[in-house]
Amino acid sequence: MPTKIEKDAVTGRDTTGHEWDGVKELNVPLPKWWLYVLYATIIFAVVWCVLYPSIPYGTGYFHGLLGYSQRKAVDADVAAVAAQRAGSMAKIEASSFADIRKDPQLLAVAEIAGRITFANNCQPCHGAGGGGQKGYPALAAGDWMWGGTLEAIQQTVTHGIRSGDPDARNSAMPRFGVDGMLKPEEIQLVADYVMTLFGKPEAGKSESDVPGIGKPAADQSASEKNVAAGKALFETNCAACHGDAGQGNRDFGAPRLAARIHLRANTREDVVAQVTNPHMGVMPNWNQRLDPATIKSVTLYVHSLGGGE
Ligand code: HEC
Ligand code: HEC
Repeated sequence: MPTKIEKDAVTGRDTTGHEWDGVKELNVPLPKWWLYVLYATIIFAVVWCVLYPSIPYGTGYFHGLLGYSQRKAVDADVAAVAAQRAGSMAKIEASSFADIRKDPQLLAVAEIAGRITFANNCQPCHGAGGGGQKGYPALAAGDWMWGGTLEAIQQTVTHGIRSGDPDARNSAMPRFGVDGMLKPEEIQLVADYVMTLFGKPEAGKSESDVPGIGKPAADQSASEKNVAAGKALFETNCAACHGDAGQGNRDFGAPRLAARIHLRANTREDVVAQVTNPHMGVMPNWNQRLDPATIKSVTLYVHSLGGGE
């Protein structure tokens, strides 16, 4: 179809020369505002390409006059946070527990670091919130084998228990059964007596002083005669470590027997098994894996779980 550009009589504008069934198309220019916006974006894009990383070539790209890089920006942010944290951790390492607790900002850093460290390192053995499980002491219960002051906990965590560290806490309950120190009948008698201690308060203390909850009170099935004989055996063989009234002894890490939560012996059979061939728990020394400031932080966390002294 031949195109014929004409002048439109009504608007005075040229037509494009296209015509469909007698309808002719006017040649209307683009609105000015639209054109200016288009030019502005083109200029913006050119300036951007010059200033910022833009045009790729071969193996590299044009870095832009400003030398900006998102990686560099992220690295700078990360370095700033790390520097801030390193400063706090260095301060935690250098400060006494009392000073850390007096400084709310430092204490907040220590609490977060302690909580994360506990979740990552301690929870598998000691349970969430330090609830404990068989063979792994409840750290929230306030019934400590080795001590619940900040310093005592720090010492335990740093060097461990029977861990092989030269400064580890160490002790061993004698193997009364396998080494023939007590006859099987005597072990039965002493177990009868130990069961009467379970869940009982020490002399002069009330029921509510016994730490722990939910364990059944003493097994009353043993005869009084057996209990008396067991008590005599206990006094000669066990009281030196576990105390006359089964209150425990921190010098030996000997657990309180007059408690409702037990480390491993919950039943009479457990007591017989422990006296026959004792299990001795091992707690790793963390000085090889955690720095002193992190150990301090996790110590504060453990202390705050409810049992701290
Ligand atoms: C040299 C100190 C020592 C002597 C003596 C000793 N024990 Fe122990 N006993 C311990 C220690 C330490 C533990 C903790 C074991 C562990 O860490 O797993 C323990 C644990 C126990 C437990 C488990 C406690 C719990 O909470 O589950 C029972 C029960 C027990 N002893 C009974 C006895 C009886 C009964 C005797 C005497 C026949 C005795 N012990 C003598 C040191 C001693
Ligand atoms: C591999 C298991 C394991 C891990 C992981 C572990 N512990 Fe222990 N922890 C033990 C055992 C077992 C004992 C009890 C040792 C004994 O029988 O005397 C213990 C004892 C303790 C005690 C002494 C309790 C008392 O009554 O005096 C403290 C405090 C403690 N752990 C803190 C921690 C902290 C904090 C961490 C993490 C940094 C940790 N533990 C990680 C196994 C573990």
